[in-house]
Amino acid sequence: MSDPKSQSADAWSRYWASGALHSCPNAFAGNYDDEIREHWMQFFSRLPDGARLLDIGTGNGAVAFLALDAGRLLGRTFHVEGIDAAAIDPAAAARRHGIEAGTVAFHGGRSFEETEFPSHRFDAVSSQFAVEYGNVAKGLGEAARILKPGGRAGFVIHHAQSEALEVARAELRVFDFLRDDAPLLLESCELLKNLLPAGSAGELASLMQDSALQAQDRKVHELLRRVAEFARTRPNAAFAEDIAKQVALTFRRITETGPVSALERLVILGEEMAAHRSRLLAICEAAHDQQDIEGFCRLANLAGFSVEAPRVLRRGGTDLLGWTVLVTRRE
Ligand SMILES: C[S@@+](CC[C@H](N)C(=O)[O-])C[C@H]1O[C@@H](n2cnc3c(N)ncnc32)[C@H](O)[C@@H]1O
Repeated sequence: MSDPKSQSADAWSRYWASGALHSCPNAFAGNYDDEIREHWMQFFSRLPDGARLLDIGTGNGAVAFLALDAGRLLGRTFHVEGIDAAAIDPAAAARRHGIEAGTVAFHGGRSFEETEFPSHRFDAVSSQFAVEYGNVAKGLGEAARILKPGGRAGFVIHHAQSEALEVARAELRVFDFLRDDAPLLLESCELLKNLLPAGSAGELASLMQDSALQAQDRKVHELLRRVAEFARTRPNAAFAEDIAKQVALTFRRITETGPVSALERLVILGEEMAAHRSRLLAICEAAHDQQDIEGFCRLANLAGFSVEAPRVLRRGGTDLLGWTVLVTRRE
């Protein structure tokens, strides 16, 4: 079994391969907007022409692209790089979302605890919903090493009471339901395994005369009904309805596709679900409450930063988006 770090990188690689630009697609249709964009615009506005910036845990480059935007608006050139432990594809995401990708140098498969950059290379480091996913003490130490003395780092960090966290917890409860109360995918795969010997539509029909298989089929249909009903009546459960639809479609097409490819399709669906769940667990673990953010600031101080008091970033003055922490590398 692979270690949790590479499992998490796999889960994110899968997510970024889907073409998402950032990790909050339900909150922002294009790139980050509103208060988050404003926050970063202010951070980047303090950088001089020609500044070098590194965005860590960049994903498909949303914050790196905001830095380029800031440069364009300010009439300055920023040399922007982005790293992420996962495999990323910012160029494809930019094309898909109509964003000018510009000249950012992205490096996938590179951790922010060991960036491989020379010391004192950067004027600024940005991290949005990123450093808290890894080893914070090491990440901050590495940021201090690669920043020039006087260089600044900006962190936007998951807040334990933010809407994103509420959604993550609600979605995890949906996963619990799918595992403990309505194991639709498991039962569907069991049924399909029993149908594997059927090499033609005729053989499939004759196999389905078996009363044990008919009972399994009824069970799958009952689970489909329960999952769809659950999804309709619970918040943040729309993805469960999507799963039910995909399972139903797989069975509807089985006479054309055959049971082998139907089973393969559901195995892939199961892997996608596992990756989604793993990202939700990671976000819950990464979230910071008041005490955690104070600990984060102490670690930043120990790493060699002067630390401004953490602030809370809200959308429209109400919805909690996250914490912001701004630090300056001591001379
Ligand atoms: C929630 S996403 C945020 C992506 C992007 N910053 C954004 O705001 O859309 C977290 C990212 O951090 C990356 N990550 C987690 N641990 C990491 C590490 N130790 N080194 C580099 N990247 C890491 C993940 O692969 C993932 O792409």
